[in-house]
Amino acid sequence: MRIIGQAIALAMLAAVSVQPARADEGMWLPSLISERIDDMRAKGFRLTAEDIYSINKASMKDAVVLFNGGCTGELISGEGLLLTNHHCGYDAIQTHSSVEHDYLTHGFWAMSRQQELPNKELNVRFLVRMEEVTDRIAAGETKEEIIRKAKSEGRNYRAAVEQMYYGNQQFLFVYEQFDDVRLVAAPPSSIGKFGGDTDNWIWPRHTGDFSLFRIYAGKDNKPAAYSPDNVPYRPKRHFTISTAGVREGDFTMIYGFPGNTQEYILSDAVAYVAERSDPAKIAIRTGRLDIITAAQASDPALRIHYAAKHASIANAWKKWQGEALGIGRLGTVASKRAYEEGFAAWAQDKPEYSRIVADLKAEYARIADAYFAREITRETLDALPARYTAEERAEAVFPQRKATERALCQWLFGQYARRCPVQYQVPEFLDGVAAAGSPEAYAAQIFDALWLQGADTTALHALHSDTKRMLSHIGWMLGTKSLRNLNSARLNELYTTYIKGLREWDTDRAFYPDANLTLRVAYGHVGGYEYADGEYHKPQTTLDGIIAKDNPEIYDYDIPQALRDLYASKAYGRWGTTIDGRKTVPVCFLATNHTTGGNSGSPILNARGELIGLNFDRTWRSTMSDIAFDEAICRNIAVDIRYVLFVIDRIGGADYLFDEMDFSRRK
Ligand code: ARG
Ligand code: ASP
Repeated sequence: MRIIGQAIALAMLAAVSVQPARADEGMWLPSLISERIDDMRAKGFRLTAEDIYSINKASMKDAVVLFNGGCTGELISGEGLLLTNHHCGYDAIQTHSSVEHDYLTHGFWAMSRQQELPNKELNVRFLVRMEEVTDRIAAGETKEEIIRKAKSEGRNYRAAVEQMYYGNQQFLFVYEQFDDVRLVAAPPSSIGKFGGDTDNWIWPRHTGDFSLFRIYAGKDNKPAAYSPDNVPYRPKRHFTISTAGVREGDFTMIYGFPGNTQEYILSDAVAYVAERSDPAKIAIRTGRLDIITAAQASDPALRIHYAAKHASIANAWKKWQGEALGIGRLGTVASKRAYEEGFAAWAQDKPEYSRIVADLKAEYARIADAYFAREITRETLDALPARYTAEERAEAVFPQRKATERALCQWLFGQYARRCPVQYQVPEFLDGVAAAGSPEAYAAQIFDALWLQGADTTALHALHSDTKRMLSHIGWMLGTKSLRNLNSARLNELYTTYIKGLREWDTDRAFYPDANLTLRVAYGHVGGYEYADGEYHKPQTTLDGIIAKDNPEIYDYDIPQALRDLYASKAYGRWGTTIDGRKTVPVCFLATNHTTGGNSGSPILNARGELIGLNFDRTWRSTMSDIAFDEAICRNIAVDIRYVLFVIDRIGGADYLFDEMDFSRRK
């Protein structure tokens, strides 16, 4: 009795103090934004729910696109001009780059529509509408039927049924896809990627992470495959650009496509991420990065060769460090455990829910090793090349790579042998190690054969197919293809019930569905934060900070001469502002919006829905917000729209583009 009483007290405590959607937490469904609009308006928003999302009239959603299936972009003119991040347009920019026209290094500025560059592999999607279809599915309609009907509504329509709250609700999303999207402008990488991996996930930040594209359509303004006869798309809505500037405390809203969060997972899963998965993956990547960094430092050709590889390994590596640290600091495992105990106590006389927490825990115990093995395999054996192509072998840099590639192979084999639970180790691998004497000796054998003879040696072939077989065995065990997170078919079913129960129990909590690359609204304000005791990070950076970091000797900090000259002459034109008594140009700002991967390129809007910036990152200690949002620490990073305009004008000389934009100077 006493124990139960305590548990109930704990439950109530947990319900009020541990998990309510705090100040600026949440990624809200646009079609249900009316449920949040009072809170948004109380925090400064001046528009209505219909302005954000409407199916009867043009609304802000009509100015936002899913950019190439993984980023967000927004329309900034009535003639299809689209803004997104430099790192989102990177592939397109790279594809158009050659030694003669190195747009990555020097930037690209179309000076007329004729100069805009078509891209084969690039599309954008507008959300036509979203609607809940839970009832239709319950009434017997299949997802396939619903999708088929929706697709037939318009030319080049796409549709998907996505589950919210682990299947408690099903939503149909109908998109119109445009495939003729042309590159209009990209700043030099020394602006668009300024600070490189060193500054990635870091504040203070000075990256001008933007690029411009234009959507083209057929003469009827409908989607059309690329044709020189296509014309600029006339969107239903585009954003007005505010040049009035931002101040700490100003209301902000982000409209975009966040990819993947897991705010409702059990403490077991949080512990798995922070204590098991992240540390192992970080350690494996630390070793890889050490080997690659040493190679890059030894030889300029290797520095260039490994640049993209280094960037992609380092991005998640840094993110995981922030995530594990943040979860530890916030005590998320313990607070979630208390929350679950509270729920279990409430649920104990409710047959539907009484066993659910125990069942979830049992399923985690069943699958954790298998999923961990999968993660380790993907980070090690599966991260190695299966072959070196003839093209690669012909490159001048190829022979120089041997020592590095061999060291990587040995490191990854060693990590796999030591970290992957042995019952999930590939049999071919175990045999190879036994025969060779050690994972490193086995790696040397395999690598030397690969290096000398290509991939078609029997030993390599057997190892590769055995690895694929093991990965599919694990997939089969988990019974699901959605393996971005520790998950299984059974877990998903159990979570359906758990979340349903949580929503009955924890009535004070403002629930929002986990991010799943569907359109969401997040709102907050421009805000700095206490980085360390006594050390406050202001929310705005300026050109002065770029100049302070400028260093021609360091690749990531070597800015274009034009920017140095502008700084020297202070010829900022209309983009100059006075900040803290200095005449300067604003560059980036921090806000409290809840964002994640996929929100890159999202518009950041002021209280009137005008564009004040472009989202591109978070601070690394914020990345725990994928699991638990901490309002004291979690900050997203945006490029100030005034810096975007300054670069277009003063670096690109492409101010003709301003003619098609709408500006507002209202405070
Ligand atoms: N950290 C940002 C986001 O995940 C930007 C990544 C691109 N920039 C870079 N320097 N690697 O994904
Ligand atoms: N940089 C991320 C992106 O590319 C955004 C984030 O994780 O905050 O989507």
